Amino acid sequence: MDDPEVRNTTAAVVNTRAPALARACGRTTWEAKALNNLGRSHLLRGDHRKAMPHCREALALLEKLGTDPDGQAHAQECVGDVHRDFGELEPALRHYREALRIREELGNHYTRAGTLRRIAAVHHASGDVQAESNALRHALAVLDRLDHPEAGAVRTAPQSAERGHRAAVGKVDFVDLEHTAARLGVPVDEVDRVHRLAGDLPSAPLPAKADAPALLDRLSVPPEDATEIMAGWPDPDSPLWTPELRWLLDRSTALVRADLDGHDWLPPGPELPRDRGPAWRHLYVYVYLALVDVARRYHREHGIADAVSWTTLADLGRNLAVDRRMRGEGWPVMQSWLTLHVRGGVYELGRLQHQRGGDAISLHIPDSGPLTPDAVTASLDEARAFFPRHFPDEHHTVFSCGSWLLDPQLREYLPADSNIIRFQQRFELEPYEEPEGIDADVEVLRFVFRTLTTPLDRLPRRTVLQRAILDHLQAGRHWQWRRGRFPF
Ligand SMILES: CC(C)(COP(=O)(O)OP(=O)(O)OC[C@H]1O[C@@H](n2cnc3c(N)ncnc32)[C@H](O)[C@@H]1OP(=O)(O)O)[C@@H](O)C(=O)NCCC(=O)NCCS
Repeated sequence: MDDPEVRNTTAAVVNTRAPALARACGRTTWEAKALNNLGRSHLLRGDHRKAMPHCREALALLEKLGTDPDGQAHAQECVGDVHRDFGELEPALRHYREALRIREELGNHYTRAGTLRRIAAVHHASGDVQAESNALRHALAVLDRLDHPEAGAVRTAPQSAERGHRAAVGKVDFVDLEHTAARLGVPVDEVDRVHRLAGDLPSAPLPAKADAPALLDRLSVPPEDATEIMAGWPDPDSPLWTPELRWLLDRSTALVRADLDGHDWLPPGPELPRDRGPAWRHLYVYVYLALVDVARRYHREHGIADAVSWTTLADLGRNLAVDRRMRGEGWPVMQSWLTLHVRGGVYELGRLQHQRGGDAISLHIPDSGPLTPDAVTASLDEARAFFPRHFPDEHHTVFSCGSWLLDPQLREYLPADSNIIRFQQRFELEPYEEPEGIDADVEVLRFVFRTLTTPLDRLPRRTVLQRAILDHLQAGRHWQWRRGRFPF
């Protein structure tokens, strides 16, 4: 069942059979819901023609039944979505308005905001700026009243300048998921994920190409990478950019932007075959560049100084440099990590990077020279002043860290006064549990040798740590990824 193709096929079979099963049981509401799901699944696959009859049938059943207004509103929206994806904006609007009317009657506020955003998107597509902004204002008022986090995404909805950009980038309304995935050389469920999460949420424009060299310099991007990034720039007429790549750039930017203020790791899209050229190699760098302005605005709104803002964002250059050392092996992790910076989730304060999240500030240690105790103390002190000042609504009580650096087995090899051991001494360790999805043996190779594939007997043994890592692994032992914490 873990094979995505098997999963998709199974889901399709279940969706296809569900309406008949529900009918056989005499459950009309279930039947309508199943028809709606079936319609949606066709819509998701870009097959509008197949979607429409199912969505219409669901709506007709629910209207006849008259006992499930919420389902009816949902079905109205579904028919509206199919019309919208066909480019039939008038009928789409009619169905959305009907859904809105029902939801207003039901007092269902959150879903009402969703319908209003759909209405705004239709006005956006038809170029009616005034109507779009009215609908968004209403949606925002509803979300604000609910104190809902999505209000942020609505508040930063596209302004007219971005509208021009979006047209230039080439929004693909009719997304054939399988075709797109095949052309990108990635699994279809990953394209589906971007399509679902980004929907028709606003993207963000790239900076002007003429300003890019200075920006890349500011972001500490090494010259070799800056040259490639400029060569692959997504000019509207660039032959390097296929419609699928343009779609992914636009929707990945929207996906990350929609989570502005978020502080969890967020994959911005599928891992691309980066050896196909600079557009492929740096697609997520362009996403990052498009979001620099969004992040800077967010930083300013939180009163964060320019210096912190730029130092934090300049982690892009550091990661590109490390990835080059790693011959591209590091990028799949980095592309997710770097979404934290442009969503306002992480801040570099002196020696350490500090990631927001619940009551804990999670510490990260960039590759930037020795981890001296004084530098660590100064960074922690800076954070103790920074977070209450700039995020007064958040209450942080602990610093936490998850790292290979906290493995107590390192004490068998490193001197007690080494920086790593002294860093460890600050933490109270959580009991060891093998973390899901992290192999500590791979992580030590990443951070100590900057390669994941070189055979152990070909790795350098220059430092005491390198010798320790290799001796330990060659003795058949394993490293541990450990988590620890101490009071804020
Ligand atoms: C964390 C880090 C800054 C510690 O470096 P440090 O301050 O020099 O650490 P120590 O003083 O404890 O070093 C002890 C020994 O290990 C060596 N060492 C430490 N980190 C090393 C690394 N990443 N690669 C190779 N050797 C390293 C030191 O050179 C020293 O050996 P030596 O006496 O033979 O020269 C460093 O490991 C680093 O930059 N790591 C990459 C980032 C990272 O791992 N982040 C955490 C991600 S979860």
